[in-house]
Amino acid sequence: MKKLLLSLILTMSAATTAQAAGGGGCGMNPATQEPYECSTAPVRLTDKASLQRGAAVFMNYCAGCHSLKYLRYERMATDLAIPNELVEKYMMFTTDKIGDGITAKIDPKMQAKWFGNAPPDLSLTARLRSPDWIYTFLLTFYEDPNRPWGVNNITFKDVAMPHVLHNLQQDLGDDEYRERVGDLTNFLTYAAEPIAHQRKIYGFFVILFLLVLLIPVWLLNKEYWKDVK
Ligand code: HEC
Repeated sequence: MKKLLLSLILTMSAATTAQAAGGGGCGMNPATQEPYECSTAPVRLTDKASLQRGAAVFMNYCAGCHSLKYLRYERMATDLAIPNELVEKYMMFTTDKIGDGITAKIDPKMQAKWFGNAPPDLSLTARLRSPDWIYTFLLTFYEDPNRPWGVNNITFKDVAMPHVLHNLQQDLGDDEYRERVGDLTNFLTYAAEPIAHQRKIYGFFVILFLLVLLIPVWLLNKEYWKDVK
């Protein structure tokens, strides 16, 4: 009995630790040559307004080059409570179907020619790199006249990607820009696992069920052994 309880507790704590552990550092500060700490991304998967703002930024500023091929337009529309008509009108190419994965608007082969490196699909980047990494990456572009786009990045040294949010940063000012990048990171975290939120709810009920089941199992155990000395 004690063993059962102990293993249950261990499983639960292992699950939480695995979730808490993020990816490694976020690059090297070129000025001080010291490791750069990742900033904590404001991930709020239940905040639909933030996810919608993030989706809008993604479609306007990122979908030209990057796809999210494992996320279908329709799934995004349903999860984020965006009407299908709006998604079809503003977020999709006319050749795309609502059941398709989100595609990059410019052919990746052309892009590989232009940028040297092809922009990767971003469906799983939040899981591969961690949300904090993406958030920090988007916030750490800096001017560098030696690079082809005139910018470099602390988190991703010599990145082949231009600072595409530069104008947005100028328009919004630093604080609001940070918030918007937070929304975008939130959206990319959602995209990496659209059912994460539901999974946590199921997980809660599964654990609750196991705990309730423990009562009859414990009573039965007592009953079976009561005459055995
Ligand atoms: C003009 C094309 C272009 C646009 C627009 C663009 N990117 Fe990129 N991005 C690239 C390229 C090219 C790379 C590959 C960089 C490399 O390998 O050096 C890249 C790399 C990345 C990476 C690193 C992925 C990894 O795991 O290595 C992330 C994250 C990323 N982009 C996010 C974004 C986001 C978010 C936006 C929208 C704000 C965006 N990008 C807009 C071209 C683009």
